[in-house]
Parts: sequence; C-alpha cells; structure tokens
Amino acid sequence: MLINLWYVAEWSHVVKDKPVKAKLLGQNFVLFRDAEGKVSCLSDVCLHRGGSLAGGSVHKDCVACPYHGWRYNGQGDVTFIPSRGEAGPIPQRAKIDAYPTEERYGMIWVFLGDLPESERYPIPPFAEYGQPGWRELQGEFTWKASAARVVENGIDMAHASFVHPVFGHPSTAAKNYIESERREESWGAHTVVMHPPAFKGIVRQFIRKERQTTRVHPSYFLSGYSVRLQVDLRPGWSTIVFDANTPVDEFTTRTFAVQLRSFFRSPIFDKDSKRRLMQIFEQDAAIVEASQPNWLPETLENELSVQHDRFMSGWRATRRRHIEEFGWQIDSQALKPHEGFKTFTIPSPARRENPEIKWVLDTVPLKPATKKRRPFQETMTAAESPQVIEVGAVSA
Ligand code: FES
Ligand SMILES: [Fe+2]
Repeated sequence: MLINLWYVAEWSHVVKDKPVKAKLLGQNFVLFRDAEGKVSCLSDVCLHRGGSLAGGSVHKDCVACPYHGWRYNGQGDVTFIPSRGEAGPIPQRAKIDAYPTEERYGMIWVFLGDLPESERYPIPPFAEYGQPGWRELQGEFTWKASAARVVENGIDMAHASFVHPVFGHPSTAAKNYIESERREESWGAHTVVMHPPAFKGIVRQFIRKERQTTRVHPSYFLSGYSVRLQVDLRPGWSTIVFDANTPVDEFTTRTFAVQLRSFFRSPIFDKDSKRRLMQIFEQDAAIVEASQPNWLPETLENELSVQHDRFMSGWRATRRRHIEEFGWQIDSQALKPHEGFKTFTIPSPARRENPEIKWVLDTVPLKPATKKRRPFQETMTAAESPQVIEVGAVSA
C-alpha cells in the first residue's frame, strides 16, 4: 500500500450531518461535513484517550469526540476541551493529522500523505462525468484481494475471453490485439481491438452486428488506484466504467465504480445495467480472490508473461518505481507486531509545515527507497517503454 496518493474514502451522498468512519491503508479516518457543506478528513483517533471521533457528533465546523467532548476542526486543531471551560487553554500539541479532501464524480477523495500540493499527482480526469448524453449509475464492490491485483485485473483485457462471456469468447482470443499504448509517470492507457462472441438475443444483435469488432480503451492511474474502461460497441454507442480501488488494508479492496452509457439512457434500463456491472465484479472476484500470492508481485521474476501482458507490466513498473525510488510503501510487516498495542497514523501535509510540533501519534513505518530517484523516461527498460504498437487490420 502506497502513501502520497489520492484515494476515495466514501460516496459523497453518504456523508451528511453525522461523522462517518472510513478505513484506508489499514488506518481509520473520520469524515465529516461542516455547516457550510465542506467535507473534512481526520485521523480517527482522539489524542486524549484514543476515542473514535466517528462515533461523535458535528458542531458547526468541528467534530466532537464522544468520550469527553474534545472538539477538532477540519485542520485537525483541537478547538475546545470541555473540562477546561469555554476559554480554557489548548496545548500546542493538540493537533491531529488532517488530510486534503475533494469531492469529485460523486465520491470523496482524500490525499493520504504529506506531499505539498504542487507535488501531488492529480485526481484522475473523467471528462464525461456529469455531461449531457450519458446516463450514470453507481456500483460498489468489496474484494478479499489486494488493490494492486484488482487494478491489474481491471486493465487486463485478455481475461475477458474467458471470464466474461458477454465480452469475449475463447474461440476469438487469438484474434484480439493491442492497437496502441501510452505510458506516463503515474498513468497509462491503451487500446485493444476485441472480437465479440457469437450473438444471442435480439437486444445484443441490435447493439452489435455479427463479427463487428469492439474497441476497448483501458487506462490505469496510480492516483486512487483508478481504472477507466471505455468500450466502444459501435459509433456513438459507448460505456465507460471509472472505478477507484481503495486499499482498505493489504487484503481488502473497496471499489467505487461509476458507469456511464451513451445508449439506452432511459432509467428503465438502469436495473439491468447495474445487474451486469455487478455480475462482472462477481466473475472477476472469483478469479482474483483465488489468485496467489495475495500481493501483486512487483517483478515478473516468478511469473511468465507474453506480449498481451505488456500493459499490465507498465502498471507494475509504475508501482515499483514509487516503491523503490520514492519510498512510498507502507511497511505492513513492521506494523504487524504492534497490532492492537499501538496506534499509528498516515503523515499529513501539516507535519512538514509544522516541524516544531511534537506530534502525539507516530506515523506508519515506510519501506525506505532502495534506488536513486531518476527522471521518468530513464527508468524504463526496453520491454516497458511506451510505444504505439500498430498492428495491421485483422481480417474479420
Ligand atoms: S478520548 Fe476523546 S475526548 Fe477523551
Ligand atoms: Fe474482468
């Protein structure tokens, strides 16, 4: 699990007038919406006696601990200690980690790390969201699998021929090909031409003609461990699934998905669309949850890859660089002996800005970088370098 990234903590509509608990990167956080409607995110550990702020209440722009009523504002400052009275003094150390928060695409994004704003990778773009011409629906899925594996599954198109009968068929697997590929420092995109299965049913025959190919555009973003999958069925008929895959802990992932479709936009088709979206998650989960090891291997050392896997290798290389060169990986094994005995927190930007404060909580241990940080372009091996792979038209 990596720090210094934006992650989705909750759906916007869930956080109303009460604090809400959210678990990310193995730690607990509290989300609350103040009287002005602004959402804040704090570490969910009261500095007094470790109370869970999520069990408390909201007072104007503060959340109050349910145990002895200490109040914290959105910057994590204690503003009121009831036992000291209205104007009672507040110790300088009475500050909890607070995390930058944004609402985008119906989701609450929190930046879990201490990087200054100028150094953060942005929240991934989703230009079609909220635009006319698209029908939107939300879906959510919890996996007993690591988030890195969930992302890899989301961008792996070769499995569609085997796992998702609606997208592909084993008999057409060899015909599918990668048309183009692009890799940037924190994201990658590619296009795959896929051959659909034989058509059954009037609705499907109506959507696509026999032997018509489908263009699929999967992208990954380190930010939010997000995946965007656009499927162009025929001109003007597309679906886009944008999902943020939040690492709850090393073994659990919560996926927040928004699906847009440019056809059958009447709400009467929502139920069926949602059912199909959830069915795809179920089909994927049966495979991903049974895959070993739980961790996504960072290298290809103990696996065998073929050309079709090169886009996933890009995802792995992106992660690996931020582990080996940036030192962003939480050392979960070092945390294990402390489980239940000591509370940690994710470092927040205020820690860098206020080095004079002796913070009450310790931050999670990180695996130190093992390599010198190099400019992005120099880090890629030939096998990983982005290039446009042009493959001639495949006869239908
Ligand atoms: S534990 Fe929170 S106020 Fe005492
Ligand atoms: Fe899948």
